[in-house]
Amino acid sequence: MAVRILVGAAWGDEGKGKIVDFLSERADIVVRFQGGANAGHTVQIGDQEYILHLIPVGILRQDKACVIGNGTVIDPEALMEEIEMLGSHGIDVEGRLFISHNAHVIMPYHKLIDRVGEEQLQEEERIGTTGRGIGPAYADKAARKGIRIGDLHDRSVLREKLQRNIDEANRILDAIYQAETLDADRIIEEYMAFADRIGPFVTNTSEYLNDAIDADKEILFEGSQGTLLDVDHGTYPYVTSSNTTTGAACMGAGVGPTRIDEVIGVAKAYTTRVGNGPFPTEFPSRWGDEFRRMAGEFGATTGRPRRCGWFDAMVVRYAVMVNGIDRLALARLDTLDTLQTLRLCVGYRLNGEVVPHLPNDANVLRRCEPVYEEMEGWDRPTGHIRTWDGLPKEAQAYIERISELVKAKVDLVSVGSHRDATIFM
Ligand code: IMP
Repeated sequence: MAVRILVGAAWGDEGKGKIVDFLSERADIVVRFQGGANAGHTVQIGDQEYILHLIPVGILRQDKACVIGNGTVIDPEALMEEIEMLGSHGIDVEGRLFISHNAHVIMPYHKLIDRVGEEQLQEEERIGTTGRGIGPAYADKAARKGIRIGDLHDRSVLREKLQRNIDEANRILDAIYQAETLDADRIIEEYMAFADRIGPFVTNTSEYLNDAIDADKEILFEGSQGTLLDVDHGTYPYVTSSNTTTGAACMGAGVGPTRIDEVIGVAKAYTTRVGNGPFPTEFPSRWGDEFRRMAGEFGATTGRPRRCGWFDAMVVRYAVMVNGIDRLALARLDTLDTLQTLRLCVGYRLNGEVVPHLPNDANVLRRCEPVYEEMEGWDRPTGHIRTWDGLPKEAQAYIERISELVKAKVDLVSVGSHRDATIFM
């Protein structure tokens, strides 16, 4: 049985939800290891669309266990909403959802500081965060001020830590942002109530996972966001506040690297990005608007329009390198069905010179000009196709050229949002 990590190979929204759902059929346990409710993993089962922000997509299959690991940041309010949403569809999480006692808790002051912090910046300085409190929660974790899930169970510790943090947050909100301050007593009561509801799910998930690996269980790590949003390897500062790349799975779940068997990357057949920051292959605005409407590219978490562009082999090759991707899944091939000509970015030029590797410095990347290769489109529907041989030869050529450019074999292609709209080579 294998232990696999799945990560996004661009700026998030690569279609990981659908691919995790497809691959989780074979898994025993699906694990989230970083990020929080900033993610939006969309899965279509029959007529029902599910959007999961925190709980691993594996929860949609009744016989799977799911772990939210120590590397995540958990908003209890969002977690409860998600558990209720699943319950309303007859999906019970009891006995199969395990939450790390070491994961950090997102507090109302994190969300408030995230939002007012962004609002007070000049338009061009904004990161365009999801406003879910992710950055401030990870900042508190690094500053050793964070409140962990395990703290929720010791009422006197929780009260003391919360009181101190809320007092500090109120001073910041008042003095720096001139924003409304928070009512400490109300928050303390609210989070004590969450503690009771979350209690049954909390455990030492590192031990749980290592025992499962010893017992030869099949495990799938579900990355969120994407490589270029990694706080170290992404286009800093236009990134999220966690490590989104493969190494984070070990750190964020308490599993050693020697226990990992395979790394799967997911990329879209084109590129999208939400939020600010450089995006070399972005479509010019009018054509971009048209493409976005045709592709339905709006954020699953915030509903924001996603910026769209051509497939960028420089980005995905970089993701293959920093993640050690063994196999690549290519999502949303069918979205390109109506295009007569396709462009693939095969390199960049900076001041007239060829750039050999992706510069992850946002200021340098901003100045890079993409070099394109044109390919013939297939100009016919692919959504019904289920085999490699059934794909139009132009689509096969497009996929093969991508494999060659990014130095990873594409062995799974998604041609629609439904589970069965998948070609597995
Ligand atoms: P944060 O993670 O909310 O702090 O947002 C930081 C940046 O990451 C912003 O550009 C967001 O739009 C982006 N981001 C965060 N989560 C996702 C995601 O799941 N998909 C795509 N972009 C994301």
